[in-house]
Amino acid sequence: MIQLSERVLALEESATIAMAAKSRAMKQQGIDVISLSLGEPDFGTPKHIQEAGKQAIDEGYSHYTPVPGYLALREAIAEKFKRDNNLEYTPDQIVTSTGAKQTLVNLMMVLINPGDEVIIPAPFWVSYAGQVELMQGKVVQVKAGIENDFKITPAQLEAAITDKTKAFIFSSPCNPTGSVYSQAELNGLAEVFAKHPNIIVIADEIYELINFIGKHVSIGNAEAIKDQVVTVNGISKGFAMTGWRLGYMGAPLAIAKACSKMQGQFTSGTSAVTQRATIAALKSDYAPSHAMRDEFLRRRDFVGELLRSIEGLKVNTPEGAFYYFPDVSAYYGKANGDYVINNNNDVANYLLEKAHVATVSGEAFGNEHCIRLSYASSEEQLRKACARMKAAFDELS
Ligand SMILES: Cc1ncc(COP(=O)(O)O)c(C=O)c1O
Repeated sequence: MIQLSERVLALEESATIAMAAKSRAMKQQGIDVISLSLGEPDFGTPKHIQEAGKQAIDEGYSHYTPVPGYLALREAIAEKFKRDNNLEYTPDQIVTSTGAKQTLVNLMMVLINPGDEVIIPAPFWVSYAGQVELMQGKVVQVKAGIENDFKITPAQLEAAITDKTKAFIFSSPCNPTGSVYSQAELNGLAEVFAKHPNIIVIADEIYELINFIGKHVSIGNAEAIKDQVVTVNGISKGFAMTGWRLGYMGAPLAIAKACSKMQGQFTSGTSAVTQRATIAALKSDYAPSHAMRDEFLRRRDFVGELLRSIEGLKVNTPEGAFYYFPDVSAYYGKANGDYVINNNNDVANYLLEKAHVATVSGEAFGNEHCIRLSYASSEEQLRKACARMKAAFDELS
């Protein structure tokens, strides 16, 4: 009999991946499921980036690369941080990895000892909690509801800090809520961190280019805490390159060196071809990314209108990314025949089975009232999905 490790047995499967598998299985049975559960742009990688990838193959970029990535790539990233974010990182402070997911797990591995606390504003991206727990760290959730646009306050942060707090991790624009912290809100949080210089602030900015309210702001700009901030980013969302697998970070030198050492025992450097394509992505103008953002904004607006027409949903206006995170708790206690709704898992399952629309329950993101809908899908599919959801919700009483 195969005895798996306690580590993997305790690990929860990613909820978004689990939902995708469930809806795929239904599709294979011939059911017309509309999937609003996945977190990737429904656009192709811009042509000039594809061409750079092809050229890299032709030029023989087929060997192992330095573990943190080619110097030319890390220089391009340092330049990007300076130009776009006003952040000063030298190429030595930059490590590239096989997706931002690996960047984050590297960070957890080099920072967290068993029992260390990591503060995570909830709702949060599912993998943060799973990764912290994998390192036997303790997740300390700080909850924010739809009435605050899912953003925490400095007072809440302060109250969550203990002498065991090792790190804080958040995304802005946020997955799953689409919320974006303003400069003033980030300054408020930074003031709290400035009083606790041992806390490492991990800013996940992977949705930077899908921001509907203007210029992206980085918490690493706050002068008082700049030496305790790790800025994480990647190419998956902003350049529609999820399958290419590259994430990166700028970090204090000791953390960058530790991540590189750790990665050297796991995956080594990420794909040589992807690294070359990423240089092209970061050095070119962002016109295709901006066009994609504009299209997401258009969808946000009409999907918002359709969702607001569903009586019982509480819907805020996300300022970035490509998700809605409506509060569905008004339906708790209602039923449609055998379907009884007691929580957001029930809502997600009901929508899948009754409306054939795949969403993700907010539970996995640390929230009991909401579900996540991704609008990275065609207008036709989105309109059809909203109509089906409306019909299914209307049947609950
Ligand atoms: C907030 C957030 N961070 C990080 C990632 C990981 O991105 P990747 O590993 O594709 O670079 C995702 C992907 O869904 C995400 O939503």
